[in-house]
Amino acid sequence: MEILLDTANLEQIKKYVELYEITGVTSNPTIISKEKAEFWPLLTEIKKVIGDKQLHVQVTADNWQDMLKEAECIREKLGADTYIKVPTIEQGICAMKHLKAMGANVTATAVYTTQQAMMAACAGADYVAPYFNRMNNLNVDSKKVIGDMVNLFRAHNKPTKVLAASFKNTEQVMDALTVGAQAVTVSVNLLTTMVQNAIIDFAVEGFRKDWIDTYGDKRIYEL
Ligand code: E4P
Repeated sequence: MEILLDTANLEQIKKYVELYEITGVTSNPTIISKEKAEFWPLLTEIKKVIGDKQLHVQVTADNWQDMLKEAECIREKLGADTYIKVPTIEQGICAMKHLKAMGANVTATAVYTTQQAMMAACAGADYVAPYFNRMNNLNVDSKKVIGDMVNLFRAHNKPTKVLAASFKNTEQVMDALTVGAQAVTVSVNLLTTMVQNAIIDFAVEGFRKDWIDTYGDKRIYEL
């Protein structure tokens, strides 16, 4: 089970890579545009912060030749281990095939259907990224579709993993994982929500109070 951060915000990445067990960071042009920063300095800094954790960077071209050129540039500047995110359209599938032939890591993105996932897996993608909330918005049963992808890859011995994305609440995240998605990429807000509510705080506060009543402000290592 892998958790990735779906953000290009440096401060958030610094904080949450330290706090949580994070597999890596995913980005897309929209996420990067929110930072209002220069592209390469931002990504270089993110790479520095996350070290050998995964960095997924999306290509922006609309034809496979230019996608490959962008990918080569990304790998040169950010490392050959960078996951190249490629939209799962016809030109993208062709780019994925070439990228895999040159040994690149590939994440197939903008995935809404099992058939797209199948095409990406056959092109050798390491991950496919189905968009949970965006599928829900289309009245698609995202949980079922993601479960189908997992089963399809398993039935055909495909090593491709499902990296579910586009979440708006924690139920969606847990649904994706419950049906077998191997990875999820989640905003920092949602990740924080996973372990934050008044009932948890109440329980922890009770333990704290009982400890202080008995041992004052001493820590275990001071007793
Ligand atoms: C990640 O790979 C996707 O690009 C991202 O999760 C999409 O999320 P959104 O639907 O919130 O834009």
